[in-house]
Amino acid sequence: MENNPLLRDAIHRVPPSQRPDDNSVDVLEGAIHRAPTSEEPDDASIDVGAMLQEFQVMEVIEKLDQELVGLKSVKTRIREIAALLLVDRMRSGVGLTTRPPTLHMSFTGPPGTGKTTVAMRMATILHRLGYVRKGHLVAVTRDDLVGQYIGHTAPKTKEVLKRAMGGVLFIDEAYYLYRQENERDYGQEAIEILLQVMENQREDLVVILAGYKDRMETFFQSNPGFGSRIAHHLDFPDYSLDELLAIAQLMLGEYMYRLSPEALQAFRAYLKKRMHMPRFANARSVRNAIDRARLRQANRLFDKGGRISKLDLMTIEAEDILASRVFSEEMPEDDHQRDASPISPL
Ligand SMILES: Nc1ncnc2c1ncn2[C@@H]1O[C@H](COP(=O)(O)OP(=O)(O)O)[C@@H](O)[C@H]1O
Ligand SMILES: [Mg+2]
Repeated sequence: MENNPLLRDAIHRVPPSQRPDDNSVDVLEGAIHRAPTSEEPDDASIDVGAMLQEFQVMEVIEKLDQELVGLKSVKTRIREIAALLLVDRMRSGVGLTTRPPTLHMSFTGPPGTGKTTVAMRMATILHRLGYVRKGHLVAVTRDDLVGQYIGHTAPKTKEVLKRAMGGVLFIDEAYYLYRQENERDYGQEAIEILLQVMENQREDLVVILAGYKDRMETFFQSNPGFGSRIAHHLDFPDYSLDELLAIAQLMLGEYMYRLSPEALQAFRAYLKKRMHMPRFANARSVRNAIDRARLRQANRLFDKGGRISKLDLMTIEAEDILASRVFSEEMPEDDHQRDASPISPL
């Protein structure tokens, strides 16, 4: 079995932590129908189902389908990328050597559309298929990469790259790295280091650049080096009202809360208004609105006193929604600020 070159190649790029132990090697062995020779005949074969099971990729993709509302085209692209990687793995399993595919990506779309969340799932898929050793995500912005003084940028960028090695480096609002108006901006130094690593260390680091679509396109035009190193462009559109409501239901379920029928109507009305207000941040605004409704519900129950049922504890009522400032003329500045934070802790 150790002398079986086909098997050795099939698990060649799988990191040690994931390398199948004895019994799972049997799964792979069972997947191969023909006795391998050094020159694989054209009808040598590998069982796709066994491969999928071996790398537990479908599990991640199905979870992504279930746990994320909408994002149809993003989900399709993730499947396509997973298929490409799996086929690449199978090809090397039957002795068809290929250059490892370029996996750097751009995720474009407005805030709160699921870019960071999908990037984390992508990291898991890349890890399961053995394209990165650890599968963690390091999320940064310009300030984490670029220094304030001469000589500070290179060590900062290198430190981030070191942390991200073996996983995914997610650069939010990547276009801020480049300041056209300032030729001697330190961002340029970070860009050059990133480009070099993206080209030379492709086997163990995947870079995902995220941000608004139009700004990202301008950024790629001014920095063709980046554009040419990005293989997959995924676009995350704004959610529709119904999708936002479905996201709310999903989040409430997670927290073990429910909306009363009247509260559901109120929340629909809330979102309809909030969607068109400044600094609306899609699913992130939904999460923040739910948190504020929970606060109001708690206060309502507290004020009510007396006996409180389990149903009371679970239920958000219309008044918990309608008390929002979104329904009055002015919206407080702090509501805007919370929704607009680039990486929300919530
Ligand atoms: N399609 C979705 N279904 C359910 N929850 C979502 C969806 N998209 C985003 N979220 C949730 O909204 C919040 C913000 O998403 P995030 O991935 O940080 O967006 P972005 O990185 O695009 O700003 C997260 O809590 C995430 O779980
Ligand atoms: Mg984000």
